[in-house]
Amino acid sequence: MKKTVLITGTSSGIGKATVFEFAQNGWNVIATQRNPEKETDFNKLQNVKMYALDVTNLESIKAAMSNAQIDFGKIDVVINNAGYGVDGAFEAMSDEIIEKQFNTNVFGLMRVTREAIKLMRPQGSGTIIQISSMGGKITFPLYSIYHSTKFAVEGFTESLHYELAQFNIKMKLIEPGPIVTDFYGRSRQFIKPTDTNQYDEFIQKFNEAAEKVMKDAEGPEVVAKRIYKSATDNSNQMRYAVGKPGPMLLVLRKLLSDKLYFLMVRKSYNL
Ligand SMILES: NC(=O)c1ccc[n+]([C@@H]2O[C@H](COP(=O)([O-])OP(=O)(O)OC[C@H]3O[C@@H](n4cnc5c(N)ncnc54)[C@H](OP(=O)(O)O)[C@@H]3O)[C@@H](O)[C@H]2O)c1
Repeated sequence: MKKTVLITGTSSGIGKATVFEFAQNGWNVIATQRNPEKETDFNKLQNVKMYALDVTNLESIKAAMSNAQIDFGKIDVVINNAGYGVDGAFEAMSDEIIEKQFNTNVFGLMRVTREAIKLMRPQGSGTIIQISSMGGKITFPLYSIYHSTKFAVEGFTESLHYELAQFNIKMKLIEPGPIVTDFYGRSRQFIKPTDTNQYDEFIQKFNEAAEKVMKDAEGPEVVAKRIYKSATDNSNQMRYAVGKPGPMLLVLRKLLSDKLYFLMVRKSYNL
């Protein structure tokens, strides 16, 4: 029987590439977006159906899950991909900015996860795949709030897997390194203090080095393939690192002391 996947945040980047990956492998794909009426790239794909879903709006999540059950009967895989990054100097970030970042990356992912469990537990099977980040295990400068959301996703998912194993629900964490998507463009929320220039040099040095890193970054298709593998490899593996140099950095973080790792980061960004 044809399997069905529901994916959040499919208007660009990793989410969009993942829609194509599963559709090309013959799955029914429920591609969800905040504004699905704007999407035209999926028109030619017979097995892709679009629903509206904003992860900050519980009613839209419940409606999408309920329609998915009516349309497809069973949802085999749910992929929590929707998310964005706030970066910049922490002291300039308002409560509103911080809360919005958590409401999307953490509470939004938790809402979708909870509603997915309610479908999957009675089914007796399912896989929930969280698009975390290498930034859920290691940190870089100026991303304190984004990192804290992804560290939260890692802890949440790891604990949850214990209670869900009895229902044959698997939890997966995808940990991409830097990937060329709209994450660094239209989705980015960069916060610079307006009342001091004391961060300017640090921000400039970091941004210059970060731009160089992005020149070697891979596209979202490499992540989509890894996500597809995690959904289909029938293993209990939880974490999947992808996107150079992410996997290598995760290994180095385990091997190095705090002191050496911090030195390495400072050196690579000329800080
Ligand atoms: N690119 C990287 O280097 C990288 C590395 C590690 C992890 N990640 C993670 O990968 C995921 C996808 O990011 P991306 O790189 O593909 O960036 P992207 O191209 O900017 O895609 C982000 C997607 O999330 C959607 N989204 C944002 N807020 C939403 C909300 N409230 N409800 C539903 N959808 C929402 C966006 O939709 P709209 O069009 O409506 O804004 C868009 O479809 C994120 O969780 C990100 O943290 C990215």
